[in-house]
Amino acid sequence: MNPPFISVLDDLGSLTDEAALHFVDAAREAVTEHGVFRVALAGGSTPAGLYRHLSLEPFVSVIPWSRVFVFWGDERCVPECDISRNDLSARETFLSLVPIPPENVHPIPAAFPDGAERYEADIRRVFGLTRGEWPRFDLVILGIGQDGHTASLFPGQAAVGESEKLAVRVTSAPKPPPERITLTLPVLNAAARVAFLAAGSDKAAAVKRAVAGDPLIPAGLVRPLDGKLHFLLDSEAASLI
Ligand code: 6PG
Repeated sequence: MNPPFISVLDDLGSLTDEAALHFVDAAREAVTEHGVFRVALAGGSTPAGLYRHLSLEPFVSVIPWSRVFVFWGDERCVPECDISRNDLSARETFLSLVPIPPENVHPIPAAFPDGAERYEADIRRVFGLTRGEWPRFDLVILGIGQDGHTASLFPGQAAVGESEKLAVRVTSAPKPPPERITLTLPVLNAAARVAFLAAGSDKAAAVKRAVAGDPLIPAGLVRPLDGKLHFLLDSEAASLI
């Protein structure tokens, strides 16, 4: 596994600019290589600026939206109209403002008791997977929590050790809401590119552990087996590395 690429930007604004350039680069590379760009978006607040950027020039007109297929790394099990939903936030911030075909957007069916199984079936269908195969996302965007969680993989929880399923339900997330559905580590580590976005001094300790590959935190276990790992950080989040 190659060491992670680390980009340290002055502030959240320049981190957002860099993340948008990274998104465009990944999209162009994937569409050139295999005709589509399949991306898993992060939840939380850090990527909000990135999503806004993608709906604006110079980015919106250079992304081949008809070839873009959007998924999420995790979703909160709250009503679809709840603004804390990761997919609703992305729809309002950019997906409703760009010419992506609606059928290319694959939200996690978190309202269903079998939402994880439904999501797995959707991923298998879109990627054309046979049993035992893992989906190779062209890009997975991830945030990181102060405790080192990423997506909805939280330290010490069983979901971190899941080695068979593509997605699982989490019922006791320490970050509200407690119930979530998340992609599993093997899916994250099957990606062609993973990009962590982190800003603020409160993330510095977790970022240091994640960059070092600390196996005691989920973010430290994200190491694409045959892919690139990027940390896009502002100077505060990078202050301990
Ligand atoms: C979620 C996210 C979660 C998030 C981190 C960072 O649904 O909450 O998937 O993993 O990315 O907690 O959140 P912030 O970007 O808001 O700090």
